[in-house]
Amino acid sequence: MKRIRGFASDNNAPVHPDIFRAMEQVNKGHVVGYGDDPYTVRATEKLSTLFGENAGVYFAFTGTATNVLGLSTALRSWESVICAETSHIHEDECGAPEKFTGGKLIPVEPVHGKLTPERISEHLYGFGFEHHSQPRIISFAQATETGTVYTLDEIREITGLAHKHGMVVHMDGARIANAAAYLNCTFREMVTDTGVDILSFGGTKNGMMYGEAVVILNPDLDKNFKYIRKQGMQLASKMRYIAAQFEAYLENDLWLKNARHANRMAQLLAKETSIIPGVTLVEEVQANGLFVKIPEKIIKPLQEEFFFYVMEGRNPLVRWMTSWDTTEKDIHDFSSLIKEMLT
Ligand SMILES: Cc1ncc(COP(=O)(O)O)c(C=O)c1O
Repeated sequence: MKRIRGFASDNNAPVHPDIFRAMEQVNKGHVVGYGDDPYTVRATEKLSTLFGENAGVYFAFTGTATNVLGLSTALRSWESVICAETSHIHEDECGAPEKFTGGKLIPVEPVHGKLTPERISEHLYGFGFEHHSQPRIISFAQATETGTVYTLDEIREITGLAHKHGMVVHMDGARIANAAAYLNCTFREMVTDTGVDILSFGGTKNGMMYGEAVVILNPDLDKNFKYIRKQGMQLASKMRYIAAQFEAYLENDLWLKNARHANRMAQLLAKETSIIPGVTLVEEVQANGLFVKIPEKIIKPLQEEFFFYVMEGRNPLVRWMTSWDTTEKDIHDFSSLIKEMLT
C-alpha cells in the first residue's frame, strides 16, 4: 500500500495545532454570522495592517476561489489575463476563471516558472481594437508553481509594465509566506510597495485548515468586491472560524515560522538528493518545492514508500513539496531510499 506521508503536497500536511486551538477557543456562544463578529473584525484588521492602510481584506475558503474572485473584480468578459502556461489559474482550476469571468486567459511560456516583461510584451497589442480581447490583467504566482520566487525588482518591472498599459496585476499568493520567508521581506514590501493591485493570500498550504483571503490594494477595484464574494459563494456564514485561524496564523509570526521551516526542509532535501547520481534538480530551490528529474524506473517503487506526483505531460519530471511538518527524518529516510535504489 502506498504511504501517503511524503512529498506530494503541502496540502497533505495537517492543521497546525495553534490554528486548531484557536478555532476551538472561538467555539463558544453565539456571535453574528457572515463576518459581523469581533473575531473577524480583529483578524481583518490584523491582516490589513500588514499591507497598509488601504488594503481591503476578504476571507474565503479556497485558493481557487480567491484567484477567481480576485480576477473577477477587475475583469470583464471581453478582457484577458496574461499568465504563465504553468500557472494554477491556467492548469489547475478546471477553467473556473474563464467560466466565472467570461474573460480569456493568455498563457505565456515562462522562464524558470516566471513571466518576464519580454514574454508579456508579446501579448500587449490590440488595445481599443474591438476584434481583440482586451489585455487587462497580468497574473503570476508568488512563489511560482515551479518553486521559484520573483525578486522585488522583477515584480516592480511587471507592475510598471501593466500600469503603463492601463492594466492591473494579480498575485496568486497561495504560497506567499514561503516567498516572503525566502526573500526575507514583509508582505507590504513585496505586495503593496511593488504596486500589486489584487492578491490571493494563501494560508491553507502553510498550516491552516481552510483559510485564504482576497486582499485588494487598489481601492478602485474594491468598490463592489463584497457583492462579488457573495455572488461567488464565498461569504462564510460561520466566518469566525476562518478569522480565528487568521489571528493565530499572524500571531507571533506563526506564518513565518512555518514557511521558514518548510523552505529549510526543501533546501535540505535538495542538498541530500542532488548529490545522488541520476538525480537532477531542474529549478533552483527557493521556496518549498523541488522539481526533479529521476530515472523512470525508480518512480513507482519510490512512490510506494513516499507519496509524490509526477508532473503530467512532463514525465519523468517529479515534484517534491515540503511543508510545515516535514521532519529531517523524512528527508533522510527518503534520500537514503533513493540512494539505495540508484546504487
Ligand atoms: C499556485 C497555486 N495557486 C492556488 C492554489 C489554490 O488551490 P485550492 O483551490 O486547491 O485551494 C494552489 C493549490 O495547489 C496553488 O498551488
